[in-house]
Amino acid sequence: MIVLGIETSCDETSAAVVKDGREVLSNEVASSIKFHKKYGGVVPEIASRMQLETISQITESALKEARVKLKDIDLLSVTCGPGLLGSLLVGISFAKSLSLSLEIPLIGINHVHSHFYANFLKRREGIKFPFIALVVSGGHTSLFYVSSFDKIKTLGQTYDDACGEAFDKVAKILGLGYPGGPLIERFALKGNPRSIKFNCSGAKGVLDFSFSGIKTAVLYYVRKANGPTGQRANRITNNICASFQEAVIDVLVKKSILACRKNRVKSLLLGGGVVANEVLRKRFINLCNEHGLKCYIPLQETCMDNAAMVAGLGYQLFKKGYKSDLYLNTGLN
Ligand code: KG4
Ligand code: ZN
Repeated sequence: MIVLGIETSCDETSAAVVKDGREVLSNEVASSIKFHKKYGGVVPEIASRMQLETISQITESALKEARVKLKDIDLLSVTCGPGLLGSLLVGISFAKSLSLSLEIPLIGINHVHSHFYANFLKRREGIKFPFIALVVSGGHTSLFYVSSFDKIKTLGQTYDDACGEAFDKVAKILGLGYPGGPLIERFALKGNPRSIKFNCSGAKGVLDFSFSGIKTAVLYYVRKANGPTGQRANRITNNICASFQEAVIDVLVKKSILACRKNRVKSLLLGGGVVANEVLRKRFINLCNEHGLKCYIPLQETCMDNAAMVAGLGYQLFKKGYKSDLYLNTGLN
């Protein structure tokens, strides 16, 4: 079965062609990030305008790269939430118009769930249910208990900043630029992760997360450091990045392992943009090994927003009998 996936939940415009839920024939992603940089974050109006301009072109190149035509597509799978309303509407309207004009079935997909689905792409070895999934992105931080593709229970989440958002805000406080995750990771390489004691406390439940406190702690630390210059300033920035990153990874690993133990589950799947972080990837692999857990991490290119994960999850749910009609709107399915 050939599925065309469409993803426009944030600043990316992505189209992908995936065969039988796993074989990625193409996965084209266009980002409008350079237009948002000077504002220090994504400006929704700019994102949706760029998506409107690029979606046809991106879809055409995804089809071309996959060497298929629209008439070969068996299913249209589109992200319908959560995300930026204007952006989601561009993808949904585009998918609906293809569905109506070409009489191709349509399915709306939950963006957060599609992030952990990224682990199933290009993988021959089967991942066994149930598993725990941790999704850490710019908009979400959630732990799920997944018994099947349509039985997903939220075990914990953040009620304030998302994990990636905290990386972005800390980078902004330090004047490093946007998006913050890759920049903090780079500066952290030269810093000492044990030099400053930060922590991510303040979450509601044992499996919930909170990242607003650590962001404020960084802000106060920077203010107290009172504007050093030259080498000393560089050293402080590197140490803040390393210590912040350490505290965040520490809480993510601890709570994920706790979720596995509490639910007697042996597999952990990661997903979302923050999982592109190399230090985080290594830490999860090592600690899961120590605890006898199997840890699955998507390839770097499918951690960030992309339409292949949307096409793949769409295939699995369609196989289970789910589908959407032309009333599909922004929402969770
Ligand atoms: O999943 P994603 O592409 O978009 C959302 O669904 O939000 O995630 C984007 C987020 C941004 O906040 C970005 O700073 C973060 O992922 N990110 C990282 C890294 N690369 C991207 N965070 C930490 N380390 C990285 N290397
Ligand atoms: Zn995402």
